[in-house]
Amino acid sequence: MTEKQQVGDSYWLETAPGGAYPALAGDLEVDVAVIGAGIAGLCTAWELTRAGRSVAVLDAGRIAAGVTGHTTAKVTALHTLVYDTLRRTRGAEGARLYARSQSEAIEHTADVVAELGIDCEWERRSACTFVRDAGGVAELRAEARAAREAGLPASFVTETGLPFPVAGAVEVADQVQFHPRKYLLALARDIAARGGHLHEDTTVLGLEEGTPCRLSTSTGATVTARDVVVATHYPVFDRALLFTRLSPRRELVVAGPLPAGQDPDGMYITTEENTRSVRTAPYGEDGTRRLLVITGEHFTPGTGDTRARFDLLAAWARKHFPEVELTHFWATQDNDSTDTVPLVGPMHPGARHLYVATGFGGWGMSGGMMAGLLLTAQITGEECEWSGLYDPRRLASAVREAPSFLKHQAQVAGHFVGDRLRPSPPVEALPPGEGAVVRAGRGRAAVYRDDDGALHAVSARCTHMGCLVDFNAAERAWECPCHGSRFDTDGKVIQGPATRPLERRDI
Ligand SMILES: Cc1cc2nc3c(=O)[nH]c(=O)nc-3n(C[C@H](O)[C@H](O)[C@H](O)COP(=O)(O)OP(=O)(O)OC[C@H]3O[C@@H](n4cnc5c(N)ncnc54)[C@H](O)[C@@H]3O)c2cc1C
Ligand code: FES
Repeated sequence: MTEKQQVGDSYWLETAPGGAYPALAGDLEVDVAVIGAGIAGLCTAWELTRAGRSVAVLDAGRIAAGVTGHTTAKVTALHTLVYDTLRRTRGAEGARLYARSQSEAIEHTADVVAELGIDCEWERRSACTFVRDAGGVAELRAEARAAREAGLPASFVTETGLPFPVAGAVEVADQVQFHPRKYLLALARDIAARGGHLHEDTTVLGLEEGTPCRLSTSTGATVTARDVVVATHYPVFDRALLFTRLSPRRELVVAGPLPAGQDPDGMYITTEENTRSVRTAPYGEDGTRRLLVITGEHFTPGTGDTRARFDLLAAWARKHFPEVELTHFWATQDNDSTDTVPLVGPMHPGARHLYVATGFGGWGMSGGMMAGLLLTAQITGEECEWSGLYDPRRLASAVREAPSFLKHQAQVAGHFVGDRLRPSPPVEALPPGEGAVVRAGRGRAAVYRDDDGALHAVSARCTHMGCLVDFNAAERAWECPCHGSRFDTDGKVIQGPATRPLERRDI
């Protein structure tokens, strides 16, 4: 990456910075406490408020600024190649329920956008999963068939709006792309206007399950609630060992203005070349340009060279859209569940008032909207036909999940043991802007040298379950390869499941 190409905040955060909600100052008593104000938490809170429940939303950082603030924001029920898999693993009915739940959530959200008059750049576009290699065509034909059987208006096509030929694509018309923060900040305002409580800079540190449940927070204030929804992306209170069924996947995004005449006029994704996803968004006042947004190069956090990956993604964007001027570089991560279906519902077999929404596998826009509807139905005692499909307590698919489960656990074990055998580089050789894990006494320290030459040393042992973190030089962050926790260069938690900082170390 060049000096000018710094990884930073997303275009969505830059163009919709939002106001500030106060940290929780005093104890609260509500019907439902929602932990996490990403798309899953805010959609759930809004639906519950509309259903007449008193709600408190607590976020460790800012509203819609986590994964949701850094997404690509395609809102579609076509999730790459999910339907052929679902048909095999969950049967025809499972695939139908998946398609229906995602599509209904999208159309419900279209109604909310219209009802509240939200200006969130809600644009109808086709969604396409494409391949360029003819070897992938059979798989796409099977996906088109499976998606149709599941109830989506899917077709197999060979022509798209992309500026290069494809061997084939599955296309579903009338899907959506939008500005995620413009939508969610409006939902937050509506929640507040209806008497809901929203608090930023309020980390939930403790949870006592009971009747009622009680939350303790970083501000010292507590929240008492009949029901609690954990919508913290990776669940912070993992009472069901969900971490064994979730694997984190980090992805990069590059974006910049493009002449409007070159808009590929659709939303595209391929799993080829380590994933490439393409969309555009409104840009500028005069309508002569569109913002091109390209996502790809997925990897396990804390592994490999992120700068080199950004270079590959930017090169791909410039090769296919030579007139794009790349102005934004950002990254974020999502969790894949072992059976590709999100985990939304009661958190564990004994849970009466504790719910979770996670494992969206790169499709948490429609997934978060769906979670809002599903959790609200469950909390208010309504029937919802999708409950079984997404139930986090599902066990029936344990055999089918075994290969993916075992692979993930083997990777975690490999990091837990193997990373401790890594050679320890000399700290003196560390250039500014770089970090390394070095031996320090009986343990390991994560050492970073800032631009002024000063060293910052913290324990390299992740506070979640003890794997060793590694340095992401492009984003200047410590990342844990086991379950994806992220820390800044002074050890502060950026992203869970860890909730405690890395301890300071003297070296
Ligand atoms: C590069 C990339 C592109 C993507 N593009 C798309 C796309 O085009 N379409 C699509 O459908 N999906 C997409 N996704 C997936 C989608 O963005 C995510 O699934 C979704 O944003 C997850 O939302 P969330 O609410 O679960 O998490 P988040 O948005 O991360 O919200 C969780 C919140 O919980 C808060 N929190 C965490 N711990 C605590 C605590 N202890 N106390 C209080 N608060 C806490 C965090 O601060 C955060 O704000 C993409 C994912 C990636 C990685
Ligand atoms: S995130 Fe689980 S050990 Fe680090």
